Amino acid sequence: MDVIIKGDYDEMSKFAAGVIAEFVRKKPDCVLGLATGSTPIGTYRELVRMHKEEGLDFSGVRTFNLDEYLGIGIDLSKPYDEDQSYARFMYEELFKHINIKKENIRLPDGRTSDPDGFCKWYEEEIKRAGGIDLQLLGIGGDGHWAFNEPGSSLASRTRVQVLTKQTLDDNYEMFYKKAGVPREEMPHFAITMGIGTILEARNIMMIASGRKKAGVVAKALEGPVTSQITASAIQLHPGGVIVVLDQEAASGLALRDHYMHVEKLKEKYGLSTRYI
Ligand code: GLP
Repeated sequence: MDVIIKGDYDEMSKFAAGVIAEFVRKKPDCVLGLATGSTPIGTYRELVRMHKEEGLDFSGVRTFNLDEYLGIGIDLSKPYDEDQSYARFMYEELFKHINIKKENIRLPDGRTSDPDGFCKWYEEEIKRAGGIDLQLLGIGGDGHWAFNEPGSSLASRTRVQVLTKQTLDDNYEMFYKKAGVPREEMPHFAITMGIGTILEARNIMMIASGRKKAGVVAKALEGPVTSQITASAIQLHPGGVIVVLDQEAASGLALRDHYMHVEKLKEKYGLSTRYI
């Protein structure tokens, strides 16, 4: 696992975007797994900048998003509406600014009338695409990946989850409140890729920022692997794993100094990173 500790949110975002850009340049038809939340916004802004100023080309890239609230979502065949869906978030923050093809975008359908059937289809679509090359992940306040709430099997697949109170509170504060949506109208269910699904991505990159994430980041990276902190499954991934943190998010790590030492040595001796 490569743990990269950057000074602040901006540096973390630029580094994470650089890793994604490298994948896109090396494999123009790569399959990216994408995440939502406030943390990846800076990463997406930097990717948009690279597209506009450096010609980073997304025309062959295919994407799968991690999750979506159940009960809302956008119809991709129509202009997006003013909802709080993750689909809309992705259009606003990334898709509408780059040259990705609409037919190459896959998002869990929050309006499906057959959630179980949809989840099976989504798993098959990932397989048909040849699997995910690089999965971007944040981490929830309760240590979750995507919407795999505490207690989720570490072998779980794409399915419907009931959200915890903490997740509802966190995400209400961050998104719904600003949009003036009453708390009781916020969806309590979601479709999410499972931990087993995520672990099958050939490479994963987790990003986290801010002091409020320090505790769960330390538990996920250095604590026991447990379904109570589903992001701790990162320790089970057999391939390329990169964790990009800012100083505050890294502040609870017991091995923080060691991770920084490793990065310095890599720079000094020009050692190639393991994640590409
Ligand atoms: C939601 C998403 C997660 C995300 C988490 C953290 O719960 N389902 O994929 O990692 O929020 O969000 P933030 O980055 O805003 O802290």
